[in-house]
Amino acid sequence: MALAGAGLSAESGIETYRGGGGMWQKYRFQDLASPAGFQKNPQLVWEWYCQRRDQAAGKTPNPGHLALVTLEKKYPAFWLLTQNVDGLSQRAGQTRIIEFHGSIWRVKCDSCGFMAEDHTVPTNRDNQCRECVGGRIRPDVVWFGEPLDSEALNQAGQLVNACDLLLVVGTSAQVFPAANFIPLAARAGANIIEINPEETQMSPLATVTIRQAVGVALPQIIEGLS
Ligand code: OAD
Repeated sequence: MALAGAGLSAESGIETYRGGGGMWQKYRFQDLASPAGFQKNPQLVWEWYCQRRDQAAGKTPNPGHLALVTLEKKYPAFWLLTQNVDGLSQRAGQTRIIEFHGSIWRVKCDSCGFMAEDHTVPTNRDNQCRECVGGRIRPDVVWFGEPLDSEALNQAGQLVNACDLLLVVGTSAQVFPAANFIPLAARAGANIIEINPEETQMSPLATVTIRQAVGVALPQIIEGLS
């Protein structure tokens, strides 16, 4: 299995959240990624996600994404748990994937519950819901203070309990409950390989740490398998 974070898409040119130049260094997540922020200024939040969608649409999967697809094809039990909302893993061809934090390519109404896949680019700046009166369209991503999908968490828990190797790629492992799957895997007896240029609080749990970019390290690991 693999648990991925924003570092997986960094080599595609998508900003990470933390660390130098990360999104949460420049913006307040309370304003842009919380229910309260959306209530206060829905237009600002929607505009930010429009820009992120339009930016992501112009990026392409990198060798790290492609290496994870190769693992899925090679190992029928392989699953990717991702915190990323950019859809690049799916565009690379990943199918056994759990999106813990949702996707910017799905939208939902904050009032009537309408939900739909939406890949239009440039993204429609008008976010009035057309299914109800007064509802606002927002991305189907998990914001701070919102719960993760319980089915996704249960499925991931079962998979991790049965897993023998967890690749932890490009995540600062600071956001829970996603990061919890690392100690869970360790307790279940899995070997853990962390691929991240920087140390994280979960590094001590790793059997092996590789201080390289995932798009460099993972293709090399896979080459060694075949
Ligand atoms: P972070 O931005 O917190 O961490 C990105 C990690 O990727 C850091 O540890 C970097 O060292 C590492 N990194 C950067 N470039 C890399 C590369 N080329 N190869 C490997 N690693 C690299 O991102 P996440 O851990 O994904 O939540 O953050 C978790 C959640 O916090 C996100 O899903 C998002 C955010 O708020 C939501 O959107 C709900």
